[in-house]
Amino acid sequence: MQFENRVALITGGGRGIGQAVALAFARAGADVAVADVDVAIAQETADLVKRVGRRSTAIGVDVRDVDSVGAMVAAAEQALGDIDIAVNNAGVISIKGIAELDVEDWDQIMAVNARGVFLSTQAELAVMRPRRFGRIINMASIAGKVGFPDLSHYSASKFAVIGFTNAVAKEVAAEGITVNALCPGIVGTGMWRGEEGLSGRWRQPGESEEQSWERHQKTLLPQGVAQTPEDMGQMAVYLASAEHVTGQAIAVDGGFSL
Ligand SMILES: NC(=O)c1ccc[n+]([C@@H]2O[C@H](COP(=O)([O-])OP(=O)(O)OC[C@H]3O[C@@H](n4cnc5c(N)ncnc54)[C@H](O)[C@@H]3O)[C@@H](O)[C@H]2O)c1
Repeated sequence: MQFENRVALITGGGRGIGQAVALAFARAGADVAVADVDVAIAQETADLVKRVGRRSTAIGVDVRDVDSVGAMVAAAEQALGDIDIAVNNAGVISIKGIAELDVEDWDQIMAVNARGVFLSTQAELAVMRPRRFGRIINMASIAGKVGFPDLSHYSASKFAVIGFTNAVAKEVAAEGITVNALCPGIVGTGMWRGEEGLSGRWRQPGESEEQSWERHQKTLLPQGVAQTPEDMGQMAVYLASAEHVTGQAIAVDGGFSL
């Protein structure tokens, strides 16, 4: 068991990519603290982790809030012990062209995706640095490498995650701590699927949501098929095990960013 006696903390772990990352670490032997703004779905993931045979705890957190993030780290350590691995995955999206984008849209996306990653990383480093060990993985996106129309605020937040990750990685590089960003391509979670997801809202006239989803995979991805949440779990486990990989923004995107 690669991560036996290790503790991983996953934000936004209640569903989608975060849930798959939590389960990937559990299968690799880690105990997993699952944090989410929706504590009920965090509990569902924690129950799945326990079914894999690992210890787990569900924590309610709003990653936008400094006190809430501090309490999350304290609760994870109280329940499971020292945090070795943290995946700052909580994120949100909205779709608006630059002319319609208002200050509230901008602030909401930046608060979760950028400020949330900053606050989480800061609180995690505060407990990791004295122990001179840590693996931090910040969830960015291919939208952190290239811009998308109607997603300027989301792209800005994900470019911010990559720049922040790069800078902090250098700051702690000699302290046994790696900090990397993971850039998913297109994953069929709630962010993409359904009427409220990207494929629903980017439908062409007469197209169903399913057809829109198929079209986006074919047109955006050289491999022609979406990535899975499990693909992201696999990369997160790799990054947590790679002693000499730091400051990187690794795409798992089926060739999108080639
Ligand atoms: N799905 C994709 O194609 C895709 C592509 C690139 C990047 N990403 C990134 O991957 C991450 C996970 O996305 P997903 O597709 O699983 O989406 P999702 O919406 O299924 O999951 C996001 C999770 O974050 C939680 N969350 C939202 N706001 C929060 C807050 N303020 N505090 C704590 N938790 C909060 C939600 O409750 C949810 O459980 C996000 O950072 C997203 O930007 C996703």
